[in-house]
Amino acid sequence: SKKHIVNIVEVGPRDGLQNEKGAVIPVETKVELVERLVRAGVSNVEAGSFVSPKWVPQMGGTADVLKRLTKERGVHYSVLVPNQRGLDDLLLLLAQQQQQQLTDSGSPPLTDEISVFVAATDRFNKANLNCTVLESLQKIAAVTETATKHGLRVRGYVSVVIACPYSGATDYDKVREVASALLNMGCYEVSLGDTVGMGRPHEVAEMLDVVKRSVPVEQLAGHFHDTYGTAIANVLTALEHGVRTIDASVGGLGGCPYSPGATGNVSTEDVLYALQGSKYHVAGRNGGTINLEEMVDIGWWISEKLGRESASRVGRALRAR
Ligand code: HMG
Ligand code: MG
Repeated sequence: SKKHIVNIVEVGPRDGLQNEKGAVIPVETKVELVERLVRAGVSNVEAGSFVSPKWVPQMGGTADVLKRLTKERGVHYSVLVPNQRGLDDLLLLLAQQQQQQLTDSGSPPLTDEISVFVAATDRFNKANLNCTVLESLQKIAAVTETATKHGLRVRGYVSVVIACPYSGATDYDKVREVASALLNMGCYEVSLGDTVGMGRPHEVAEMLDVVKRSVPVEQLAGHFHDTYGTAIANVLTALEHGVRTIDASVGGLGGCPYSPGATGNVSTEDVLYALQGSKYHVAGRNGGTINLEEMVDIGWWISEKLGRESASRVGRALRAR
């Protein structure tokens, strides 16, 4: 029987590295990480963010990462953009590249995609973006319009879709409204984030039932952090509800700096392993797939660069064999 195609958005280089407390990770390491992920078959990768380096120091070098990356055809190297300032910085970079191409033609654009983010609760939004949800949506509408005019596609995130570290259980109708607003302003997809990573499968199911009342499931993605160990179960729940795009992080890297104690995203290795031989087929670059063994190696390589072991369960199991 025909398999369901599942897309992975690899967020390790952004969601993963943004939360690292130690020394700022060198640009060369970030470039190598993204290039290795693409060689392993990844076709959607968040390469960094254009946020304030005072707020998130690890993402400071993103412009240099974009400039140095060797781009492969068919790969989206997206960057997270919090506000107009972030978009302006990116557009300047793209304009500079276009200028250079008048002499040195043929290289693909530095990026063709941004992601924007807003929370389902005002308290989380204030911690993460220093304004209310409504204020954020107004800012994002302008950012999305300008980005679209410049030929960029825009992906939206809703954070704290199950629970908020500051205000407890989330009202799923808020998630529905915010997701719907993002799509109406021109986002091609909305990724629903369990930022805290404490969602349970039945809660994810209830949340999706509510959101699907206003939003076509084809335009939804699932973004699950694994703080309480439920991320892979939540991924499978989302797939059963018709979601076909999953955000994942190699080596299980990461966490949000404004969600105290939250750990990384579901690891890409664990998602690949769980879906092997199932009714789901994970699509990779150029009609291929994503190579699990290579992802395990990358998960270990980057974790060792950060001074620890891979946090991926499958990565650890396969390494131990
Ligand atoms: P603010 O304090 O309201 O902004 O912060 P401001 O306009 O007053 O600016 C403060 C300073 O930052 C100024 O510099 C600005 O120039 C500068 P100063 O005058 O003090 O020298 N600035 C910037 N610099 C570089 N790039 C920019 C930029 N904007 C302002 N784009 C602001 C507002 C948006 C800047 C701040 O809140 C911010 O950067 N927040 C980012 C937070 C963040 O990156 N969080 C993690 C990503 S979200 C996430 O992880 C969740 C997700 O994974 C999904 C999920 O799990 O749920 C996506
Ligand atoms: Mg996240």
